[in-house]
Amino acid sequence: MRKPFIAGNWKMNTNGQAAVSLASELAEAVKEIDTVDIAVCPPFVYLHDTARALSSSNISLGAQNVYYQPDGAFTGETSCEMLKDVGCQYVIIGHSERRHVMGETDDLINKKVAVAISSGLLPILCVGELLEQREAGQTDAVVTEQVKKGLAGLSEEKVLAVTIAYEPVWAIGTGKTATSQQAQEVHRMIRKLLAEMYSDSVAAQIHIQYGGSAKPDNTAELMSCPDVDGLLVGGASLKVKDFAGMIVTTAKL
Ligand code: PGA
Repeated sequence: MRKPFIAGNWKMNTNGQAAVSLASELAEAVKEIDTVDIAVCPPFVYLHDTARALSSSNISLGAQNVYYQPDGAFTGETSCEMLKDVGCQYVIIGHSERRHVMGETDDLINKKVAVAISSGLLPILCVGELLEQREAGQTDAVVTEQVKKGLAGLSEEKVLAVTIAYEPVWAIGTGKTATSQQAQEVHRMIRKLLAEMYSDSVAAQIHIQYGGSAKPDNTAELMSCPDVDGLLVGGASLKVKDFAGMIVTTAKL
């Protein structure tokens, strides 16, 4: 049985004060929940303060990106050790905005995933097709390639540290959620792929989150799909009431 895992991706939002209030209010709102794993991923500069606001809560901390080198002349980048140092357990890797706005490749993403796991961080590997790829019937091929390349070279033991987030790019921040049937189809396909790449046991253990305009209204339906194990939430994670509501709804299912 996979315990549901809901993570909030704050993207490039909040400021110092807002990040701390959001974290503290969320911690209060979900303090009774122990049947859902919860994480929030603030901007780098607010990780430290958010970690303090979340101390002794049931909410884990994640970063939105990482670099694969341990240290050195990589201006503007952040290492796995730095993330651990400020209290991160999770790190989002290969988010569609990093792939399509910042030009990250599958090869770079794979390096980040491998190094994150070796450092003891838990990567959330994002995959998902563009609208034109879906319309051209390429969804399965695109997602398969991103999963295979993202996980390349990882042993069966290491891959268990990974959560995969299926985020159709056309559904991110657009208000257009994938239908639960569309989500389930791709999640099922990813799980079958994991069984082929690894084993049935690995496929049964890995969490696959859905992301893309997930909100209070569609949480129950998405989370009722047998292969949807959680949500990666952008916009709705910035509102305590909405995000806490989604967690509570999931806990009740
Ligand atoms: P959204 O973002 O919920 O605002 O669509 C999801 C994500 O990009 O992780």
